[in-house]
Amino acid sequence: MISGKTRFVPLLAHPVHHVRTPALFNAECTRQELDMVMVPLDVRPDMLEHTVAGFRAMENVAGMVVTIPHKGSVAALCDRKVGAADLVGACNIIRRERDGSLTGGMFDGEGFVAGLRHQGFEPKGLRALLVGAGGAASGVAHALLQAGVAGLTIANRSRDKAEHLAGELARVFPDARISAGVSDPAGYDLVVNGTALGMHEGDALPVDVERLERGTIVAEVVMQPDMTPLLVAAEARGCRVHKGTNMIEQQVRLLVDFLK
Ligand SMILES: NC(=O)c1ccc[n+]([C@@H]2O[C@H](COP(=O)([O-])OP(=O)(O)OC[C@H]3O[C@@H](n4cnc5c(N)ncnc54)[C@H](OP(=O)(O)O)[C@@H]3O)[C@@H](O)[C@H]2O)c1
Repeated sequence: MISGKTRFVPLLAHPVHHVRTPALFNAECTRQELDMVMVPLDVRPDMLEHTVAGFRAMENVAGMVVTIPHKGSVAALCDRKVGAADLVGACNIIRRERDGSLTGGMFDGEGFVAGLRHQGFEPKGLRALLVGAGGAASGVAHALLQAGVAGLTIANRSRDKAEHLAGELARVFPDARISAGVSDPAGYDLVVNGTALGMHEGDALPVDVERLERGTIVAEVVMQPDMTPLLVAAEARGCRVHKGTNMIEQQVRLLVDFLK
């Protein structure tokens, strides 16, 4: 029930039709008996700054959840960034403080690792290949290193972005084995698709599935379709598969906690 006391949490995306977070977020608020509601809003990139400024001015806005394509650009609109957001320079949530200032956070990575653990996959000690170096992949990379993977290779279409991310992470995790490399999945315990590949019919596969080894954990960030072509192919090769939906389901509690 929405009342004058309800705190509002817009979700900013463009386009917005595919988002799944509002249903999960609102269910979590109900479960925790929090008077907070999320509504998805379709915000064009050229209107992001105006939109965020408008919500900054509203006293009953608890914060904003931010997704494609705004995660990077919204970081510059925050007054401060905390945790992984500070490192990766991207935010997927903003908390509006009582004084109207905006604190950015990034929980994609923590959500991903929480999802892995929830499915019984412990990342500590695994040799990991991550394909992608965008917003979601950066968060995942940070969280995998924090979880203690034995090594992390980052492969991305734009190699300079993978190299930049590997360099940034090496500063934060000086003892970890981190490199920018190629997307050959042979020899890894954990292979993660952190790109948008798989969302659309006809997308290329993020790795050469013929090179996947039996028993490797193959994980997705892509949530729709539920079983991406990568996961279907990986399962057929005897890999253990991990859906993108696990990441958002585990992340939603972290998002609610950040705002409440
Ligand atoms: N499950 C969840 O909770 C969750 C949370 C967040 C995001 N996601 C999903 O994660 C995916 C990526 O989102 P994002 O926010 O990270 O987007 P992003 O910041 O725009 O990054 C996109 C990434 O995908 C790569 N890519 C895009 N098209 C490609 C192509 N045709 N060939 C090769 N690489 C390509 C990009 O490579 P370049 O750098 O070369 O452009 C980049 O690494 C989306 O599917 C999103 O829905 C899921």
